[in-house]
Amino acid sequence: MSQTYQTLTLETDEQGIAVLTINRADKLNALNAEVMNDLEGAIMKLRHDSAVKAVIITGAGNRAFVAGADIQELAGLNTFTGTALSERGQQIFSLIEHSAKPMVAYVNGYALGGGCELAMACHLRIASDTALFGLPEVTLGLIPGYGGTQRLTQLVGKGRALQLILTGKPVKAREALEMGLVNWVTDPSEGMATTREVLGQIVQRGPVAVAKAIEAVNAVADQPGKGYIAEAEAFGALCGTRDFKEGTDAFLKKRTPVFNGN
Ligand code: COA
Repeated sequence: MSQTYQTLTLETDEQGIAVLTINRADKLNALNAEVMNDLEGAIMKLRHDSAVKAVIITGAGNRAFVAGADIQELAGLNTFTGTALSERGQQIFSLIEHSAKPMVAYVNGYALGGGCELAMACHLRIASDTALFGLPEVTLGLIPGYGGTQRLTQLVGKGRALQLILTGKPVKAREALEMGLVNWVTDPSEGMATTREVLGQIVQRGPVAVAKAIEAVNAVADQPGKGYIAEAEAFGALCGTRDFKEGTDAFLKKRTPVFNGN
């Protein structure tokens, strides 16, 4: 199977391993509405395609996995549209997390903001040693809105999650490995091969057992659900602030933001 969307490519090999590549390299694969729509369509298709046993998600080019939500689009949000955007992102990434087929991120460069959140929604993360992970939303007067506050806390614990979210400072692949944010770090020349090797092992296991294992592990965090609601509400509220307008305007004009706390 080979299929091309506007903003991503999808190819499946004879082992049933599909590679979904986010393909907007000139904007470091930033997630605009079109990418999110394509991503939703592709994930739904992959979940239902009986020829597909497992999925690799990666980014086009050699600089970025995904450098975040598209800041140009974010800049126009208000409280209502901001909350809706966050809820939609949460819902799409939840399709990945709750897929019965293993979905693995091969992180080949910047995984910032929504890119880090996308990688965290995957069941496993393999990073090239050039990758950089971070949640820099506070530098825009914002917080992560696609489940990042929840999944980062689950993966690395509250202390380190707050370290990354409050400072907005990224960590290199090796540090991400030490904190449990990624599973393996590889040389970029071997990244895809290593990822295929890991998935090649998993697809030989009992598929029903693999699906049930994902379901059972997800159940650890599924019950309360309030964290996601709190995140979307906070994200929306921040979209109505002057600080958010200042943060996004400063990024787009390539200047340093001046926050006033309102
Ligand atoms: N949204 C929209 N556009 C983005 C983007 C994003 N999240 N990240 C990068 N881009 C665009 C840049 O605006 C630039 O476009 P241009 O060539 O039309 O000016 C292009 O991608 C290349 O990025 P640039 O900033 O010139 O590359 P760099 O090497 O100087 O810096 C980064 C790379 C990743 C450090 C920088 O792009 C960055 O900080 N991106 C935003 C990260 C972020 O805050 N993500 C969270 C968003 S919620």
